[in-house]
Amino acid sequence: MERTFIMVKPDGVQRGLIGKIIQRFEDRGMKIVAMKLIQVSKQIAELQYEEHVGKPFYNLLMEYIMSGPVVVMVIEAPDAIKQVRRIVGATNPQNADVGTIRQTWAQDVSRNIIHASDKPESAEREIGIFFNRNEILDYPLTVHKLMFID
Ligand code: RTP
Ligand code: MG
Repeated sequence: MERTFIMVKPDGVQRGLIGKIIQRFEDRGMKIVAMKLIQVSKQIAELQYEEHVGKPFYNLLMEYIMSGPVVVMVIEAPDAIKQVRRIVGATNPQNADVGTIRQTWAQDVSRNIIHASDKPESAEREIGIFFNRNEILDYPLTVHKLMFID
């Protein structure tokens, strides 16, 4: 099983989409192994988005991510990073496939309601920014017995 990092961004929280977004992952049988509601500080935002320093949208992105509470999560599933990104949809909601989270609830690339790690190194780095080891739980999800053949 692979782990990935997800954040319901401030617009997702304000629009009352926390539950609906979580539902998408639960419906797929993905396991939430860590979750919390937090306010992102400037220091944390700088760490999260260090790969985007110097890009034209960097300042807008920093303001956006600090503009209100966010929900951060670690999700565990087979091929989690790729599969979660498929559920999330393309960065620009106008290009996102029908049925994805971004296509369903967003229209603008600067207000695309959710973040998901794009590769294993990002997932590990981002999980480390937002969670202590003891906040990530190891437990069996009993429905997996019905969903996977060992
Ligand atoms: P994320 O990191 O949030 O999961 O999104 P992503 O991988 O699909 O996109 P990425 O290239 O990492 O960009 C991070 C976030 O920056 C904002 N953005 N704005 N105005 C623009 O042209 C622009 N481009 C990117 C988006 O909020 C994007 O999710
Ligand atoms: Mg990204």
